[in-house]
Amino acid sequence: MSNVTVIGTQWGDEGKGKIVDWLASRADIVVRFQGGHNAGHTLVVGDQVYKLSLLPSGLVRGKTGVIGNGVVVDPEALLSEIDRVSAQGLVVNPETLWVADNVPLILPLHVATDRAREAARGDRKIGTTGRGIGPAYEDKVARRAIRLCDLAEPETLDWKLDELLLHHNTLLAGLGAATFTKQEILDHLARLAPRVLPYACSVWERLDEARRAGRRILFEGAQAVMLDVDHGTYPFVTSSNTVAAVAASGSGVGPGSVGFVLGIAKAYTTRVGEGPFPSELFDDVGQKLGERGREFGTVTGRPRRCGWFDAVLVRRASRVGGVNGIALTKLDVLDGFEEVKICIGYELDGQMITSFPSSPAAQARLKPVFESMPGWQETTFGARSWADLPAAAIKYIRRIEELIEAPVTLLSTSPERDDTILMRDPFED
Ligand code: IMP
Repeated sequence: MSNVTVIGTQWGDEGKGKIVDWLASRADIVVRFQGGHNAGHTLVVGDQVYKLSLLPSGLVRGKTGVIGNGVVVDPEALLSEIDRVSAQGLVVNPETLWVADNVPLILPLHVATDRAREAARGDRKIGTTGRGIGPAYEDKVARRAIRLCDLAEPETLDWKLDELLLHHNTLLAGLGAATFTKQEILDHLARLAPRVLPYACSVWERLDEARRAGRRILFEGAQAVMLDVDHGTYPFVTSSNTVAAVAASGSGVGPGSVGFVLGIAKAYTTRVGEGPFPSELFDDVGQKLGERGREFGTVTGRPRRCGWFDAVLVRRASRVGGVNGIALTKLDVLDGFEEVKICIGYELDGQMITSFPSSPAAQARLKPVFESMPGWQETTFGARSWADLPAAAIKYIRRIEELIEAPVTLLSTSPERDDTILMRDPFED
């Protein structure tokens, strides 16, 4: 296998950024294939901290970055991210960044619809990032999205905007929110088009050429399987499929190109936004995890909800995600605990179950069943070999492997790129 696909196996924020950055140094091309600027990756390289939302992480390593057709792109957000990282010294130009010309665009009306709908949901809100992701994907499927290539064709843009505005203005007016005029959107796009169009290209063709030339491709997933629109905790999910299969359809390559699927799992669990979270902790242990793990959303700054590792969820995510190996992150956050726990099943209406039900009402009623293990007092922070790890930490990892029925092939022990223990090189598999 020469390619690798990285996906999250929990509710996002598993520390994918660092792993992708580490793998990017061994790849030629890094491809984003779903999601949008709802994602947030923090990369620490020496004394520089890069915060990326939409740009593929490989750009930090001087690799070609690709935004595939499965992504939804807010052109304004894209350009401001390019400006921000360029000011930090990264080289982003149409040579180093390829954006699929058939990518659907996020416009200000998507953001307005996202926010107005969340406000109208009240207590039943999803807790979206408010960036217009859901409405943009809806428009894509409803065949009324403005795509990047449309910016070069004023006539196409003109009639497509009529349909788009009819839909959104009806909704916005119904929700009591401000509506948009066609001229406003046209002006917005006219301002951005000259800077964003040079990046547009036929990504599938370029990836096909790269694949034939034997170049190594890294597919960088955003969000995670439990936020997948089909396989996650629906409706408390994002609006794209996040499983590895989408690396193919979301960038225009065949399924055989997905390669080794590396699932990222945090050594405990976190979630931002609303929705079921059976192993969530509401006590001082949960608070300690949040503080020690610095668990605040990269995109929204919201504090993340914290809980013990849920093996049932990660097992399921690994299965549906097609995971070949797991990268376990942030083990050091558990250093110093007297005991550590793993959720091994749930009690549902008096019955013990070891699978995750689909019904949201049943998901909300799940009570976690924990297995307790002795903790460790030694630090695992920055460990670079298996021998540096305390025996209790190794036992914890082994137990996780058993329960999720997938091997831990990589261990990340600090935000620094080189603090990584590799059991199996995914590119060599
Ligand atoms: P949306 O993707 O903005 O529509 O948000 C839908 C749900 O996905 C919300 O619960 C968000 O908090 C969550 N979400 C979206 N992107 C991320 C991410 O990158 N990390 C973690 N949660 C995310």
